[in-house]
Amino acid sequence: MSKQIRYGILGCGIFARHVGEGIQNAVPSACTVSCFDISDKARDEYAERFGCRPAANEEELIVSPEIDCIYIATPHCFHFSQAIAALKAGKHVCVEKPMAISLAEARKLVKTAERSGKILTVPLMTRYRAHVRQAREIVKNGTIGTVTAIQISGLNHRDSEYFSRSGGWIKQRDMAGGGPLIMGAIHGVDTACFVTGLKVRGISAECDRFVQDVEVEDFAQCVLRFSNGALGHIQWASGAVGKLPGQVPLRVWGTEGQLALSNHWTHELKVHLYKLKTRKWKEIPCQQGEYTYIEAFFRDLTNAILENGRPEISSEDAYHALEVILGAYRSNETGRRVEIGL
Ligand SMILES: NC(=O)c1ccc[n+]([C@@H]2O[C@H](COP(=O)([O-])OP(=O)(O)OC[C@H]3O[C@@H](n4cnc5c(N)ncnc54)[C@H](O)[C@@H]3O)[C@@H](O)[C@H]2O)c1
Repeated sequence: MSKQIRYGILGCGIFARHVGEGIQNAVPSACTVSCFDISDKARDEYAERFGCRPAANEEELIVSPEIDCIYIATPHCFHFSQAIAALKAGKHVCVEKPMAISLAEARKLVKTAERSGKILTVPLMTRYRAHVRQAREIVKNGTIGTVTAIQISGLNHRDSEYFSRSGGWIKQRDMAGGGPLIMGAIHGVDTACFVTGLKVRGISAECDRFVQDVEVEDFAQCVLRFSNGALGHIQWASGAVGKLPGQVPLRVWGTEGQLALSNHWTHELKVHLYKLKTRKWKEIPCQQGEYTYIEAFFRDLTNAILENGRPEISSEDAYHALEVILGAYRSNETGRRVEIGL
């Protein structure tokens, strides 16, 4: 049999289960060999479900010679130390967003990965949805002209079950590092940069808590300036009461047209495209194809490890999205615009 990339799972909660299926279903050259969670129940159920070995502790998992890549899906405050330990043990690392909850830690992580020669990636995998990739092609082809403005949006109303999972870490500032901005908008920022090929250069933000019983923000509004001078706006919330179905996660305006993505969570992925030339809107249906977005991400990562290459989502891309989000929190605290990427 040709070589298989062997994954070790650190943190066996809700999202790690989707990832376990993604690895299992889509990548014959990948397998999950071991897992660890501080909850014995979560660890043992995961091991049983995915046919892998439960590790006795975090260190045993991280140093295991059976493992090529550690996937980390624990509360955010643990990502930095666990990812550093895995890189130092000679593993490739796929750490969930955010890679760290401070920029100093994130910088150290990126540098450690560079020195180790191992892959450090973050599954900002909204990029792998078919309509996101189609939108990127449309922008690249010049169909909407020069990008002038971008709107990034995720208006959710989370329930108490969401906030109380695994001891309620999501509502605690020191464990989560923030609220819906660091949880969700980090995907929105990466998707916008991926679709347009631009980077964020400045951010001003206001965040507050209105309806949720949590330590973090439940509503955030941010104004952005992109690398080509385009303006942008993020609105993201866990406390958007009465959310409407069918909201638009990304809109991009250009000198020659506009595009809007259908909601990521519907089965009908579409790009809505307006061309100034025809003054008409057109719907472009997009088929996800053979692989789900999670499967597509793990195919890319597994191939990159096998071929000694680089995955599509670099540690620098993930660092940039985090820098924007942490910039938003700093702007909210200081009342000033924060420069990004200096
Ligand atoms: N990429 C995506 O689209 C996406 C989607 C959802 C969540 N996530 C990310 O996945 C990560 C986990 O989120 P979740 O929703 O699965 O949360 P969760 O609470 O369901 O799972 C976290 C798990 O980590 C375990 N854990 C806690 N501390 C630990 C430690 N020190 N060592 C080992 N295990 C520990 C908990 O017992 C729990 O089983 C977060 O970083 C979250 O932002 C990513």
